[in-house]
Amino acid sequence: MRPVTLITGASSGIGTELARVFAAHGHELVLVARRADRLNSLADELAAAGRPRPTALAIDLGQRDAVAKIVSELSSREVEPQHVVNNAGFGLMGEAAKLDRSEQLAMIDLNVRALTDVSLTFIDSMSRHRGGLLNVASIAAFLPGPGMAVYYATKAYVLSFTEALHREFSDRGIKATALCPGPVPTEFQARANMELPAAAKIIELPPDRVAQIGYDALMRNQRVAVAGLANKIVASLMHFTPHAVLLRAINQRTAGGR
Ligand SMILES: NC(=O)c1ccc[n+]([C@@H]2O[C@H](COP(=O)([O-])OP(=O)(O)OC[C@H]3O[C@@H](n4cnc5c(N)ncnc54)[C@H](OP(=O)(O)O)[C@@H]3O)[C@@H](O)[C@H]2O)c1
Repeated sequence: MRPVTLITGASSGIGTELARVFAAHGHELVLVARRADRLNSLADELAAAGRPRPTALAIDLGQRDAVAKIVSELSSREVEPQHVVNNAGFGLMGEAAKLDRSEQLAMIDLNVRALTDVSLTFIDSMSRHRGGLLNVASIAAFLPGPGMAVYYATKAYVLSFTEALHREFSDRGIKATALCPGPVPTEFQARANMELPAAAKIIELPPDRVAQIGYDALMRNQRVAVAGLANKIVASLMHFTPHAVLLRAINQRTAGGR
C-alpha cells in the first residue's frame, strides 16, 4: 500500500491551501469534499505543477457510509493514509433556539462524528507509515460561544479529542496536532451566515498562512497550534478570564453583529 495524505474539505479555503502545502512537500494526496469540480481543478493545478496527481473523491462526509466509501476507494487504488487531515467543517451563526435543529445536528455529524470516524479508521495505517493526524479546531474551542453555541462546542470536542489522541498516539509513532485558527476569510463566513466584524481584521490570517502553520506544527508533532501571534494572545487571555465575563462579552458581540 502506497502512503498518501488524506485531506477533507479540500474544495475551498483552508483545505485547498493545506492541499497545496502538503503537495509542495512531496506528499501524494487524496482530496475529499462534495464539490467534484473544485477537487478536480485543484488536482489539475497540482499535477500541472509537477506534483503527483491527487485523487479526488466527491463524498458527503455527513452521510453515515462516507468513511466506508473512502476506505473502499483507497483500497481499490492500493493506497492508505500516512497523514490524515480532518479539515471539513462548518458553522452557523444565530441563537440555538432559532436555528434549524437538523442543520445544527448536521454540523455535529460533520465537525464531530465524521472527524472522529476518519481519525479512528486510519490509526493502523498512520502508525505503519509513522505519519500523523491534523485536526482543524478553532480558537472557538477555548470557550463557550453564545450566538454559535453548537459550532463552538464541536470545536471544543475537536481540541479535547485531538489532545488526548496526541498522548495516546505517542506509543504508536503517530503525530497528532489540533490546529486552532482565528478568523480566516474563506467561504466559512457565507455558509455560517455571518460577517467578520471589523475588529477581527486585526487577528485575521489568510488561509495559505494558516495551512503552512498547520503543516509545520504537525511535522514537529506540536499538540496544539494556535495560528498567529495575535490569536495566541487572545487564546491565553481567554484561559485566564472567567467564563461569566467571556459569556457576557461574546453575547454582546454576537447581538451587535447580527
Ligand atoms: N474560516 C474561519 O474563520 C475558520 C476559523 C477557525 C476554524 N475554521 C475551520 O476551518 C475548517 C475549514 O474551513 P474554511 O474556513 O476553509 O471553510 P470553507 O471555505 O467553507 O471550507 C469548508 C470545506 O468543508 C467542506 N465540506 C463542508 N461540508 C462537507 C460535507 N458534508 N462533506 C464533505 N466536505 C464538506 C467544503 O466542501 P464542499 O462544500 O465541496 O463539500 C469545503 O471544502 C473548518 O473546520 C472550520 O470550522 C475556520
